[in-house]
Amino acid sequence: MLNLTYLGHSAVLLTDGTHEVAIDPFLKDNPLASAKPEDIKAKYIVLSHGHGDHLGDTIEIAKRNDATVIATFELAGYCGEKGVKNIHQMNTGGAYSFPFGRVKLTVAFHSSSTPDGQYVGDPNGLIIEMGGKTIYHAGDTALFSDMKLIGKMHSIDLMLVPAGDNFTMGVDEAVKAIEFVQPKIAVPIHYNTFPVIEIDPEEFVKKLPSGIEGKILKPGDTLKL
Ligand code: NI
Ligand code: MN
Repeated sequence: MLNLTYLGHSAVLLTDGTHEVAIDPFLKDNPLASAKPEDIKAKYIVLSHGHGDHLGDTIEIAKRNDATVIATFELAGYCGEKGVKNIHQMNTGGAYSFPFGRVKLTVAFHSSSTPDGQYVGDPNGLIIEMGGKTIYHAGDTALFSDMKLIGKMHSIDLMLVPAGDNFTMGVDEAVKAIEFVQPKIAVPIHYNTFPVIEIDPEEFVKKLPSGIEGKILKPGDTLKL
């Protein structure tokens, strides 16, 4: 079993009853966040890229929990330079099995630098196998047709897809991405946090191909998978 809690924006918490994994924990400066950095007890933090709305409170949470930061080479290395003791460096296309499950970094078309202006490698999407389920967190990517390959190689139970437009895909591209990947459940993320990414998530759900369940999660909502 896997519980997925949406924390707002692109931040998600995964728990399987034993392990807790945080993805892109942007909380303190996130007007929609349903949790504070000090609420997060995760022992692993997985990052899609270095932008402030994804790196978020990673350094603080990792230090408090003695957590391991999993990310692409340069970004994990940056966290190490900032005093995070445990880092696991990967790169695009690679996967690794951790005590909680397996993480693969996929391609994401976007950019990646830290709030203090450092270049931190390529951005990623994240495929996480945990608790018998497979989650695809697409990061901040644009639409790309190789998402079809991701859908062919992995049976995705749930896809978190950015749909807020301006910085990422908008509703129509996000719907096309879901069509390419064919997950069982589609959840829009990265919208309505700021005025520039305001969309109607109901429109996303209405436009989904038949047979794919759309779920709109409010920050704080937990899905049991
Ligand atoms: Ni970004
Ligand atoms: Mn972002």
